[in-house]
Amino acid sequence: MSKPAKPAPKGDPVPVVVRQAEERDKDRLVEIMDACWEATWMPFMPPAVPARYRNENLGRAFVENAWQTCRVAEDTTGKHGVTGFSFLLDKQIKTIQVPPKMQHRGVGRALLEDAEAELAKAGHASAYVECDVFNARAAVFYRAMGYEETGRIDTDMLGYKLATHVFEKPLGSK
Ligand SMILES: CC(C)(COP(=O)(O)OP(=O)(O)OC[C@H]1O[C@@H](n2cnc3c(N)ncnc32)[C@H](O)[C@@H]1OP(=O)(O)O)[C@@H](O)C(=O)NCCC(=O)NCCS
Repeated sequence: MSKPAKPAPKGDPVPVVVRQAEERDKDRLVEIMDACWEATWMPFMPPAVPARYRNENLGRAFVENAWQTCRVAEDTTGKHGVTGFSFLLDKQIKTIQVPPKMQHRGVGRALLEDAEAELAKAGHASAYVECDVFNARAAVFYRAMGYEETGRIDTDMLGYKLATHVFEKPLGSK
């Protein structure tokens, strides 16, 4: 039987403030997207998928389309700059991305709490997030943050079929 994956070591907490993204953040958002893509999704995909991501410069394309609705976490000590971002669409948290070096240091929690506050402010009673089944770390994160699986769906990432958890959390609950 194979050994269970070792949990990532917990690093020193990074204090952040979460704010609306600005145009000056765009290059950093692309770096974060690319780093997360490389570490999280690429290892699970057949080679055609990463090739398409690279050739079509999909990290940059996403940021050019979506930066104005992203929220960014900025390190308040000034040491690391922008350390992650979230992207919301209606009641859905479309993604939260924290680059590998900054993970497990409280940044994702700050972004998720901010996203929930934004959704509540917009009048939504619950938050909804999809998380690919192979992405065990993200599933641990959402469960630890009070999300419950309400279903599983089949999704498509650049032509690659994936099973995906649907997680939801009533807002106002902890
Ligand atoms: C999923 C992700 C957003 C989590 O962000 P993070 O900054 O690492 O999370 P935090 O440090 O704020 O952790 C919050 C809680 O989640 C749990 N958690 C997070 N990372 C964990 C890990 N590696 N092992 C075990 N628990 C973990 C813990 O309960 C943690 O609370 P604690 O620090 O009090 O123990 C981040 O790993 C990421 O960006 N991954 C790549 C992109 C991705 O998969 N995004 C999600 C797409 S749906």
